[in-house]
Amino acid sequence: MEFWINIAYIVATALFIFGLKMLSSPATARKGNFISSLGMLIAVVAALLTQGLSFKLIIIAALVGGTLGILAARLVAMTAMPEMVALLNGSGGIASLFVGWSVYHFTPEADLLTSITIFLSVLIGGVTFTGSIMAWGKLSEKLPSKAILYTGQQIVNSLILIGIIVCGVLFCMNPADGYTIFIVSVVLALILGILVVIPIGGADMPVVISLLNSYSGLAACAAGFVIQNNILIVAGSLVGASGIILTQIMCKAMNRSLSNVLFSGFGAVTKKAGGSEQQGEVKPIVVEDAYLILEAAQSVVFIPGYGMAVAQAQHAVRELAELLEENGAEVNFAIHPVAGRMPGHMNVLLAEASVPYDQLVEMDAINPVIETYDVAVVIGANDVVNPAARHDEASPIYGMPIINADKAKTVFVLKRSMNAGFAGIQNELFFYDNTRMLFGDAKSSIQGLVAEFKG
Ligand code: TAP
Repeated sequence: MEFWINIAYIVATALFIFGLKMLSSPATARKGNFISSLGMLIAVVAALLTQGLSFKLIIIAALVGGTLGILAARLVAMTAMPEMVALLNGSGGIASLFVGWSVYHFTPEADLLTSITIFLSVLIGGVTFTGSIMAWGKLSEKLPSKAILYTGQQIVNSLILIGIIVCGVLFCMNPADGYTIFIVSVVLALILGILVVIPIGGADMPVVISLLNSYSGLAACAAGFVIQNNILIVAGSLVGASGIILTQIMCKAMNRSLSNVLFSGFGAVTKKAGGSEQQGEVKPIVVEDAYLILEAAQSVVFIPGYGMAVAQAQHAVRELAELLEENGAEVNFAIHPVAGRMPGHMNVLLAEASVPYDQLVEMDAINPVIETYDVAVVIGANDVVNPAARHDEASPIYGMPIINADKAKTVFVLKRSMNAGFAGIQNELFFYDNTRMLFGDAKSSIQGLVAEFKG
């Protein structure tokens, strides 16, 4: 039986890897998701064939977990997905903590290697759990989302980390008599998770969540060593590696280092920058006039952002794009890697509205040709089209690559007010000569344009 279980684990591993690979393109992402899920099903069934399991408890746990999963999938809004991912990471972390703890509880006379892996699963799991709860609280604004900074913060965090390392060494040297040290380490890990996330502003939470996702994978990997389960080791490593790669991609897209995200107190800095003040006169436009310009346009690029997700405007946008094409215009969608609130946010929304994949153009591909477009329609995007990122060294987003919407011949910005975006700063694009502000909910504005075209 063990032989077949290991074969099943190898098949599951291959499916995870192929699935992950396919997730990297919108065209294959759905299939990749399905293939990875199939791998997980095989892994779970194979794990359940292990001798000596108590199925009564497993069935109860599966029913509770499955019900919660179905409810979450049905009830959680697309815009709240990062919060949900934070909670899922936290669940992964606390599960690894409990796995390590229970193995230690029942077999305290562990050998050195097992003691190290028990300690790591509990330590990383604990930090991931409370860190993820903090990230969830900040993103959902149940907790203050601004960075909380105080004097000596790094020293306090470093001392706790040193305390954990000392406890770890003492514990691994003599695990049989180390229950008190173990409990102290659990408490310190839980505290450290809170303390390392509070100095990070809400705007950086998606990066933190991706990093915690990586940690939850490492914790699971350590738990896999503890219970000597190969698939948990492999799946944990894959999550750990892909989480850190995604974290790097997000940092690169914002032109910031990971240490800058973790230690610069970005949220507090942007608050000080204040930045929602006016920088001149804006030129509002009404739907009827915007229609006349679009009707004459030969080429149009849509630049979606978080506001499109809030307004759920993607279906109306696809309809407008089709009408523009029927009218003879070339239509594209320019996608910024950190538009919205989670990686691939815009791709998911546009795929849901059946926008053809070949119309999606990445930031690096659109920027060199954007000045050839007659109209750039910015739909609820703000920070990702802020030209200050290119030249204003005082701006908190200085250096972040942006979509150069301002270089298009005419720019329409669809948003409800002059409020700032996630970084909390005003956008000079709104005051440019070639920019027209179409105020209102993005979906209503787009529907208005659709109605004009149809009329
Ligand atoms: P934001 O800069 O957050 O701007 C969104 C804009 O949408 C707001 O200015 C808001 O203005 C508008 N809006 C909200 N609801 C709307 C509605 N119903 N109709 C029309 N407009 C609406 O969004 P972005 O440009 O997508 O930038 C993303 C931000 O998140 C960046 O700062 C990025 O660094 C950060 N971030 C993202 C990620 C990922 S992975 N996506 C990761 C880390 C950080 P009004 O309130 O005036 O309508």
